Amino acid sequence: MEKTMSSQAKPPLVAGNWKMHLTAEEAKRLASQVVKAGLEMPEAEIVLIPPFSLLGAVRKVVCDSPVQLGAQNMHWEDKGAFTGEVSPPHLADAGCRYVVLGHSERRQLFGETDAGVNKKIKAALRHELTPIFCLGETLPEREGGRTMSRVGGQLEAGLEGLEGKKVGAIVIAYEPVWAIGTGKTATPAQAQEVHAFIRERIKEKYGNEVSPCAIILYGGSVKPDNAFSLFREKDIDGFLVGGASLEAVSFIQITKEAIRAHKEKT
Ligand code: PGA
Repeated sequence: MEKTMSSQAKPPLVAGNWKMHLTAEEAKRLASQVVKAGLEMPEAEIVLIPPFSLLGAVRKVVCDSPVQLGAQNMHWEDKGAFTGEVSPPHLADAGCRYVVLGHSERRQLFGETDAGVNKKIKAALRHELTPIFCLGETLPEREGGRTMSRVGGQLEAGLEGLEGKKVGAIVIAYEPVWAIGTGKTATPAQAQEVHAFIRERIKEKYGNEVSPCAIILYGGSVKPDNAFSLFREKDIDGFLVGGASLEAVSFIQITKEAIRAHKEKT
């Protein structure tokens, strides 16, 4: 799990966060279409992130394929009296390689805190799950000139107590809250500015060896028509896609655009 290559030498990572959508039948159909296309796109790391109840059905479709499975959340404890929660061992047992942590919907709607996200990141790493650690500013924070202090604060709190080696094994997803599900995407320059800031912060704290390896995804209304220009930016290593991941055609096209831009960059 440790990363030794620079992020640009890594394949583009394109993850589809299905949120609370799809029936088992729909999920299997969509996963099959993605697997079929994925076989022709070995240059990308593709991850499907269904709701918990669909992990088993999707696992059956993606197993024996390069497409990876991820979950949308988890508790930090291994087991216990936590009704309604799912543990890291549950996810590992269900075939997950990735887990989304600290998504803004969890932070805003379910009261997740930086401290809780930090515990979850540590727990995921203990179980060989790669965290997709989400952070991002709200519109008032952006308009008030507080984007970097917000993102920097979330980054620091989320990574608190981790050594550089572990930080290099985490995927970070910059998702401006105002761009999620709104159709408003950050411009490539806005996204790049924050991605570069995140990479610089990692460099300051964990050194030159870790920072080029950090995989930093952009998320927030990624679509086939903006994927290429976003991915062309230096510090964008992949995408966390919500709405557009629910349709095979758009998700596959986004992946193709990422591969095309990645080739141009390397
Ligand atoms: P969106 O969601 O692509 O629908 O904006 C992104 C996300 O929440 O990860």
